[in-house]
Amino acid sequence: MQISEFRKHSTTALLVMLLCLAAFSGCGKGEEFGVGPVKEEMKLTPVDAALYSKGEQIFNTKCVACHKFGSRLVGPPLKDVTKRRRPEWIMNQILNPLEMTQKDKISKELFAQYLIQMTFQDVTTDDARALLEYMRAVDEGKVNPQ
Ligand code: HEC
Repeated sequence: MQISEFRKHSTTALLVMLLCLAAFSGCGKGEEFGVGPVKEEMKLTPVDAALYSKGEQIFNTKCVACHKFGSRLVGPPLKDVTKRRRPEWIMNQILNPLEMTQKDKISKELFAQYLIQMTFQDVTTDDARALLEYMRAVDEGKVNPQ
């Protein structure tokens, strides 16, 4: 093979590799959203006090039976959950827990580990958004959980 031909081949190989990489990272992102009503990427603004206070109230009535932040209860400890998961994924876990544990890779693994099915807590999308804000506020040290 002549040098010029070799260059041509290696350039093609590089292009193919880059294309594969782009396709892969695209897929990965979709998966990280989980399964549920939240399909669009969320644009988050700095933590909002009124919104997280609303979330805190909902959390303390609908989620405390199974979750703490610093330690395991029935479900996983929620400290730093906003750092390890995407906001879209968290919203879908709250709004669609049954399908999440059946179809989403991470949620499936959690179910295998905790052996309890998180149940839908009859929350609206707005409630879930407020809950997400509360978890963000806890993770940023703006509020201490009960
Ligand atoms: C019946 C107990 C139960 C209730 C009530 C419950 N959860 Fe869960 N939660 C779980 C379990 C168990 C898991 C792990 C997945 C599974 O097994 O279903 C989980 C997983 C999660 C996760 C993912 C944690 C991680 O590490 O990625 C989040 C976020 C979450 N729950 C938030 C909430 C919120 C917010 C509420 C209140 C609206 C709530 N949960 C109510 C049991 C519960």
